[in-house]
Amino acid sequence: MQIKDHVGIVTGGASGLGEATVRRLVAQGGKAVIADMNAQRGEALAKELGDAARFVRCDVGVDTDAVAVVQAAQEAFGRIDILVNCAGIGTPAKAVGKDGPLPLAQFEKIIKVNLVGSFNLIRVAAAAMQGQQPNDLGERGVIINTASVAAYDGQIGQPAYAASKAGVVGMTLPLAREFARFGIRVVTIAPGLFLTPLLESLPKEAQDSLGVQVPFPPRLGKPDEFAQMVTSIVDNVMLNGETIRLDGAIRMAPK
Ligand SMILES: NC(=O)c1ccc[n+]([C@@H]2O[C@H](COP(=O)([O-])OP(=O)(O)OC[C@H]3O[C@@H](n4cnc5c(N)ncnc54)[C@H](O)[C@@H]3O)[C@@H](O)[C@H]2O)c1
Repeated sequence: MQIKDHVGIVTGGASGLGEATVRRLVAQGGKAVIADMNAQRGEALAKELGDAARFVRCDVGVDTDAVAVVQAAQEAFGRIDILVNCAGIGTPAKAVGKDGPLPLAQFEKIIKVNLVGSFNLIRVAAAAMQGQQPNDLGERGVIINTASVAAYDGQIGQPAYAASKAGVVGMTLPLAREFARFGIRVVTIAPGLFLTPLLESLPKEAQDSLGVQVPFPPRLGKPDEFAQMVTSIVDNVMLNGETIRLDGAIRMAPK
């Protein structure tokens, strides 16, 4: 599917990997709906990008918010062709910390945003895509999720984050199989270490010491390299039902 004249919803689109994705979709002639909790950053980005972008405040963990986002995309741009799930949180916490067992609500919160939140948007967006006319290749839509290398090499302190991302990897194939008859593809990206606001807040030396752990290229990933992966997936109709590691060959150590 081409990006030009097509409409993408990007959750977490106000920052980091999502923001880079929004910028690339618009740069390639597409339209973007920025669906994020952060209204200040989201509205500023939409304003900067003009007619090609809209901001919709949303909590991906809330069922009615997903409906509102898809409706807003249809009202603003008439259709929805691409969903990119980037919204995510990752507060580290051990199962048993200094104060005893991790409060269960903290584990549930991460699962709710990263896993349930991704599924929430998928179920509503896919229903809308199913009602659209297919293109010449038979495609009605492309859904792209963001997992993490933590789905495979989760570190100490990441049981909730790793489980949430492994859940995203796990639902990729069954969803691709379910939506195949509608020509809707589902692909997941598992990024390694990318220089987004979280890591940008670290001193340069700390950034560099993380970067050299990457075999090649020995540096942190640039958000636009993630966005480039998104547009490659949209472009290539044979990519489906798979999770792609985008990580410079890093394998995370236990801690
Ligand atoms: N940066 C990395 O190195 C890296 C590596 C692997 C995976 N990831 C994943 O990539 C995704 C994006 O990460 P990032 O580094 O760009 O983070 P980021 O913090 O820069 O951006 C995340 C965005 O998600 C939004 N968000 C958080 N909770 C939300 C909710 N409930 N509803 C709607 N929006 C919500 C935030 O407001 C923010 O704008 C996350 O899923 C993260 O787990 C990032």
